[in-house]
This record gives sequence, C-alpha cells and structure tokens, in this order.
Amino acid sequence: MKSINVKAEKNYQVKVGVDFATEIAEILKHHNKVFLIAPSSLLKKFKIKESRNLSIFSTPEGENQKTLTTLDRVWTKCAAIGIKRGDAIIGFGGGATTDLAGFAAATWLRGISWYAFPTSLAGMVDAAVGGKTGINAKSGKNLIGSFYSPSEVLIDTNFLGKLSARDLSAGMAEVIKCGFISDYKILNLVQDEFLDYEELIYRSIQVKAYVVSKDFKESNLREILNYGHTLGHAIEKDSSYKLRHGEAVSIGMVFAAELSRDLANLSDDAVLMHREILQNFNLPITYPKKRWPRLLQAVSKDKKVKQTKLRFIGISKIGKPVWFEDVSPTHLSKVYERISS
Ligand SMILES: NC(=O)c1ccc[n+]([C@@H]2O[C@H](COP(=O)([O-])OP(=O)(O)OC[C@H]3O[C@@H](n4cnc5c(N)ncnc54)[C@H](O)[C@@H]3O)[C@@H](O)[C@H]2O)c1
Repeated sequence: MKSINVKAEKNYQVKVGVDFATEIAEILKHHNKVFLIAPSSLLKKFKIKESRNLSIFSTPEGENQKTLTTLDRVWTKCAAIGIKRGDAIIGFGGGATTDLAGFAAATWLRGISWYAFPTSLAGMVDAAVGGKTGINAKSGKNLIGSFYSPSEVLIDTNFLGKLSARDLSAGMAEVIKCGFISDYKILNLVQDEFLDYEELIYRSIQVKAYVVSKDFKESNLREILNYGHTLGHAIEKDSSYKLRHGEAVSIGMVFAAELSRDLANLSDDAVLMHREILQNFNLPITYPKKRWPRLLQAVSKDKKVKQTKLRFIGISKIGKPVWFEDVSPTHLSKVYERISS
C-alpha cells in the first residue's frame, strides 16, 4: 500500500492498494453509524450487504444519480436512519457516485465525515481526489456543488477487474494526461506490455495531489489539469454525452498538442507520441470536421474562458505546461483542421 498526502481545507490521505473489507471494518469501528452510497449494479456485483451499523443507499447508474431528486432521497434516508454529526457517509463507485456522496456529506447537518472508495479508473485518478463534490443542475452539468474533502480516499485496485474495457480506456486518458503535463515515467509505463495499474494510479494521483495541494480552490496552477479539457468538454457535450469524458479529453489532448506545436514549439515527436499512446488504448483522436462551428461556440462559453478571451493549456515539452492566452478563433480553426476527419 502506498499513500499520498493531500493538503486542502483539511489534510487527508489517499491510500492506493488497500483491501476494501479491511478498510470498511476500520471505518465501522470509528463511527456509530455509517451510510454507504453506491449504484445498485455495483452492490450486486461486489456483494455488499448491510450490517449492524452499516446502512446502504442504492443509486441509479451514472449521471442519473447526480440529481436533486436522488440527493433528496439520500437526505431523507439520512434522517430516517438518524445520521448524526459523528457518523459518516461512504461513496462507493465511479466519479458520479463519489461526487454525489461527497456532496450529500457536505450538506447533511452542514457537513459530516465522508470516505471515497472510487471503483472506476476515472474515479480513482481524478474524481475522488481534489475535493470537488456536486450534482448536475437542470441547466447544466456539475453546476451545484462544493469543495468538501473526504477523510480518506481508499483505492482497492481489484475492483478494476470488473470494469468494462471502454471505461478502463476512458480512465487511461486522465492517466496519460498526467504523463504529458508532469510525469514522463507515466508515459513509459503506459507503453509496457503488462500495465502496473497500482503504480500508474499512484503516480497520477501524485500529480493531481501536488497541484490541488498548491491551489485548492482552482485559480492558476490547477488549470494545468485541464490539459485537453477545453475542447474535450465541448466535444463531450456535442456528442450528447455519448462519448465518455476520457474519450472526449483524448481528442482534446491531440488538439492541445497540435496547438502547442504552433505556439510553444512542442516537438513533432511529442505530438506524434500523443496520437500513438492514445490510439494504443483505442481512444479516439479525431472528430468530424463539420462540428467545428458548434465546438467553437461551446469553447467560447467554457468556464475557463476569461473575459471572452480564448485560453488553452498547452505544453512546451513533456512535463512543462504553458498557458495560451487569447488564441484567435482563426488559429483554432486551422488547428482543428489537423485533428478533424
Ligand atoms: N469531482 C471531480 O473532481 C471530478 C473529476 C472528474 C470527473 N468527475 C465526475 O465523475 C463522473 C465520471 O466518472 P466515471 O467515469 O467513474 O463515471 P460513473 O461514475 O458514471 O461510472 C461509469 C460506470 O462504471 C460503473 N462502474 C464503476 N466502477 C465499476 C467497476 N469496478 N466495475 C464495473 N463497473 C463499474 C458505474 O456503475 C457506471 O455505470 C462524472 O459525473 C464527472 O462529472 C468529477
């Protein structure tokens, strides 16, 4: 087991390589009542049952759980079982579940302890680390939420064994992103024949933990985690969320690399490396040409756009992020030509 310390509004540990049963037993010892929130499919798959002081709330799948209706049902059950200040919530599942569980913990009785057990790769390397919790509003994704750190993030990599190949690849996009913005070793490891998930997860979390510890409430440094995300978010939305977040970010990273070649002299080899590594994981690296006008419109509305200037995160070489301020739409269109099909 390896652990990483995250400094936020309170410090907490991310433990990689734990055993789920052992950790649950430990949490149950520390709280009078524990309330575990998880999608029904995972409760079945991993045979998780209620016990004397462990109550369970079963959620719908994916984004369907990040709603006010589900949150209200969670609060109602908190009241019914009598969850008090010293009790705890557990989020067990992908990023959607840890987002919901964290926000339920942030809001119930003005904040109680919570533990994140991410079970998807995207949840392990991204969603569960960084303190952002929340649900979707009718008017948009992730619009309601708070920064509310867990007591611990506990990662049992055995859960990955049941994850679909597509979800595993989508999670790899965030791992690969950490390689490009900060840690060359990750890029070597992802090219190995047998993937050492524990090491890849550990190294990716180190990248995110370092950044969020320096910049908890997202101003400047934290933006480097958005490498590939400005166009990625626009593509994800344009696909009506048919593309996974990681798949859209994969295309966005190739775009960011091409932009970096023009504006920061990123080498041709490094740009090629983006395409090769992402493709090895069956991740998409192109998007239809005709979608550009809609994507440009969406990028202009992205919350990372400051005072209507189009800003992007790029890299000047592997591990060296750079900020591109005020990129012209004409230039962006030219770069999109190179990544579209
Ligand atoms: N809080 C943050 O900082 C942050 C960062 C990135 C993403 N997110 C959020 O995370 C969500 C995406 O996360 P995700 O990709 O994990 O999606 P998800 O939570 O919807 O999970 C994807 C699917 O995989 C299933 N699953 C999870 N673990 C499994 C396992 N071990 N075996 C089999 N099936 C499993 C889930 O039940 C679900 O059906 C989005 O809602 C996004 O907004 C949050």
